[in-house]
Amino acid sequence: MSDTLPERLAAAPVVPLIGENNPSRAVRIAQALAAGGLAVLEVVMRSSDAQKGMEAILAETEGLIVGAGTVLTLDQAKSVRASGAEFIVSPGLVDEIALYCLDEGIPFFPGTMTAGEVQRAFALGLREVKFFPASLAGGVPMLKALSSVFREMRFMPTGGVSARNLAEFLELPSVLACGGSWLTPKDAVAIADYSKITNLASEAVAIAKAGR
Ligand code: 3PG
Repeated sequence: MSDTLPERLAAAPVVPLIGENNPSRAVRIAQALAAGGLAVLEVVMRSSDAQKGMEAILAETEGLIVGAGTVLTLDQAKSVRASGAEFIVSPGLVDEIALYCLDEGIPFFPGTMTAGEVQRAFALGLREVKFFPASLAGGVPMLKALSSVFREMRFMPTGGVSARNLAEFLELPSVLACGGSWLTPKDAVAIADYSKITNLASEAVAIAKAGR
């Protein structure tokens, strides 16, 4: 398998979100996703323990590209970077995080949902953004409209994406990948049903392959 983030996303343009704080469960989830063919994972920093989950995945798995999501501050960006995060995702666009990531050469996907936000990201030098929350922000029609004017921008729709609408988003040439938590359902994790996560990952890979 290829090594860089763009190559990995070209092979399987789906980024599952991991919101598990328990490090050993986070590792099991990551392994289950990888078994289904998804090798780019976003661990969301929504609690003080979340970073430990990301660190455990980085320490105990091989061949995955692991990023940090829900990064809200520059200090947090520096901290996840120091822990080994290979890309950073934010729900919105904060200039100082964008400039730090550009300076560090670490891929950064800030959430955008309006032309103004996409244009600000563009002006800062970013060419890849998250489109968030994808469904509520207007879904595929809105993304088509944004893509028609921001020709160099690539988008990662996240928020309301699932197996049901994945193909529609991936049909757009401007979509780099889709992100989402539907691949890591909490009820499956609660009963340690990791095969369900592998099956959901395989299903997403099959949808992506059929459409691209
Ligand atoms: C995010 O952090 O990007 C979203 O909360 C994910 O949304 P989803 O749960 O609808 O995939």
